[in-house]
Amino acid sequence: MQIAQSILREELLVFEKKFREAVKSQAPLLDRIMRFIVNRKGKQIRPMFVFLSARLCGQINESTYRAASLVELLHTATLVHDDVVDESLERRGFFSTYALWKNKVSVLVGDYLLAKGLLLSLDHDDFRILQLLSGAVRKMSEGELMQMEKARSLNLDEAVYFAIIRNKTASLLASSCAAGAFSTSGNEQLTEKLSRFGEAVGVAFQIKDDLFDYGNEQTGKPSGNDLKEKKLTLPLIYTLNTVNKSLRRELIYIIKNQNRNPEKVKYVMNRVVEAGGIRYATEKMNQYRDEALSVLYQFADSEVRQGLEELVRFTTDRKY
Ligand code: IPE
Ligand code: IPE
Ligand code: MG
Ligand code: MG
Repeated sequence: MQIAQSILREELLVFEKKFREAVKSQAPLLDRIMRFIVNRKGKQIRPMFVFLSARLCGQINESTYRAASLVELLHTATLVHDDVVDESLERRGFFSTYALWKNKVSVLVGDYLLAKGLLLSLDHDDFRILQLLSGAVRKMSEGELMQMEKARSLNLDEAVYFAIIRNKTASLLASSCAAGAFSTSGNEQLTEKLSRFGEAVGVAFQIKDDLFDYGNEQTGKPSGNDLKEKKLTLPLIYTLNTVNKSLRRELIYIIKNQNRNPEKVKYVMNRVVEAGGIRYATEKMNQYRDEALSVLYQFADSEVRQGLEELVRFTTDRKY
């Protein structure tokens, strides 16, 4: 992310400070947890998309900074809640909030972050930006719930998979880019275009995340967790829809009844690799990457456009 980081060097430093400020609390326990969270920050890819989309459409201003903080606040809130939902003990290479403080605290911490985001926007009359991001939060919740519902019935439908990831992940990237564009242009057509760009990036982003679940690399969170939660993602959906009946029945049996047995999970993963599930998902991911790039290429070449192109490529080539 060299281009993006060098273009945004100053903005990211200022952002860091503002974000830290935005999560402060007078309540000692909350403040301790907030410090824990900001000290283990993630890739901050969404704020980068906000800033670069903003630059692509105009001059960065205070509302751009607030949009970036709002996006990262909402993202952090959903991760804290998501780890409760997924019973996941590791996040960003360390214990998750859920692992350390358990359900009750995690639910309240997520709510606190959400409220801080709402206030940040409302205190400055950033109504359009708040509207864009609230739409994403609504979709995220719908996506996560739909995923739970489909985990129960073992969803094998690719179209449903894409609907889920568009909602739970792509919506936030879409509104990050849209909010950035709106903050500097106030132009709805540009906002819509950047939203389409962000959505394609977001779908690619989640396919990559789902591929991580099949790998052994150190990504800072557990692998094999999706199967444990009966989340059928693209590599497995493709596999189940292409292998012969008896293997399919065997794999479904394991997912239903032996999904907490590490050896059985490993067995399923190996069949997925053999059946070309990883290759297939990678191809699909690259199609979405290219769709995002084709929207981007509608803008004249510039350093900022190159920064965005680099971020898109990072999304599909990243190791964490
Ligand atoms: C993780 O997002 C959640 C998904 C949408 C897959 P990131 O991979 O951007 O998380 P951090 O913020 O960098 O930790
Ligand atoms: C994305 O799904 C999570 C959100 C949209 C909040 P995952 O459950 O796959 O994300 P990770 O792998 O826990 O980061
Ligand atoms: Mg999760
Ligand atoms: Mg995941």
